[in-house]
Amino acid sequence: MKGLILAGGRGTRLRPITHTSSKQLVPIANKPILHYAIEHMTQVGITDIGMVIGETGEEVRASVGDGSRWGASITYLPQPDPLGLAHCVQIAGPFLGDEPFVMYLGDNMLQHGLGPLVERFRADPSPAARILLCPVADPHRFGVAEVADGRVVRLVEKPTEPVSDLAMVGAYLFTGAIHEAVRAIRPSARGELEIVDAIQWLLDGGHAVGHDLVDGWWLDTGKKDSLLEANRRVLEDLPVRIDGTVDDRSDLDGRVVVEAGAVVRGSTVRGPAIIGRGAVIVDSYVGPFSSIGDEVTITGSEIENSVLLERVRIDGVPRLIDSLVGRDSEITRSNRPPRATRLLLGDHCAVDLQ
Ligand code: DAU
Repeated sequence: MKGLILAGGRGTRLRPITHTSSKQLVPIANKPILHYAIEHMTQVGITDIGMVIGETGEEVRASVGDGSRWGASITYLPQPDPLGLAHCVQIAGPFLGDEPFVMYLGDNMLQHGLGPLVERFRADPSPAARILLCPVADPHRFGVAEVADGRVVRLVEKPTEPVSDLAMVGAYLFTGAIHEAVRAIRPSARGELEIVDAIQWLLDGGHAVGHDLVDGWWLDTGKKDSLLEANRRVLEDLPVRIDGTVDDRSDLDGRVVVEAGAVVRGSTVRGPAIIGRGAVIVDSYVGPFSSIGDEVTITGSEIENSVLLERVRIDGVPRLIDSLVGRDSEITRSNRPPRATRLLLGDHCAVDLQ
């Protein structure tokens, strides 16, 4: 069985981070989301993986390489424009051939990976496709399934008036039947070839589509709050590891990872939290659910429930919470008059002042 990971698209909901970087490479517990997707594939024995890439393709290639790090072989499939999830399947057709495959959206995370989906297919390979559903509070943000008498009867992408609260999770198992479906459908009102429409085409043609409720948590990390939530969930399971230097004026409480080369001085780190390689934390408090990227410097500050990417500098900030801060950003306090907030913000930033 082959795998198909989608790592193209635009990532407008994670701007400004995605102005300069791919949304699938934003880190969760200091590891790019996309790397979890590859791990989940190899955990179920899928090592022949196609990866759809778009305008951030070079960055994705640099981060993933040929896949040998995971014992996998990655075939890159460039998509000239993000024309939809079903368009990705069209592009991947020659790579996939006619055998069954798992498609995984590179910005989705499943607590228990792909095991349950693949096991269900192995137990009963008769449906043309298998999908995973999850009850959510905001179904209009997702593909939504209508289930009647235990069967999927209708699928609608981002409906304004959802018929159910069952969102389609970004992990799918397809047989070769999907290739005819993705060729048959037409672009949706938003101009994309929707995978939901291709699956609906299968249903309309009398094919069975199996479904299961997802087991454990599932997150689409495409927005700041869901990204912070994914970060919290993953940090909760991280085994304690202290490879860096922690002085005797510092306290580490709970699940804390301090990577090699990191220095913690006169500070409290309350887990779950991770401090990246080469980071320096001085006279500060790093609170629960924080991922501090490589070479970040935090001095005289307090941080909680936040993700800081590489080389961020935080100095003299009394309390920073619920934040996602992009690479090489600085948040400092100068105390120079006039006492005011001075900003240099890129496009699409958001600042919530105290
Ligand atoms: O997260 C689950 C949802 O994912 C499903 O409920 C929806 O039915 C499904 O359409 C999808 O919705 P999104 O709006 O979240 O899709 P997004 O545009 O964010 O794309 C999902 C992934 O696929 C993302 O990693 C980018 C990649 N992608 C997307 C498009 C449109 C591509 O590689 N190429 C594309 O053309």
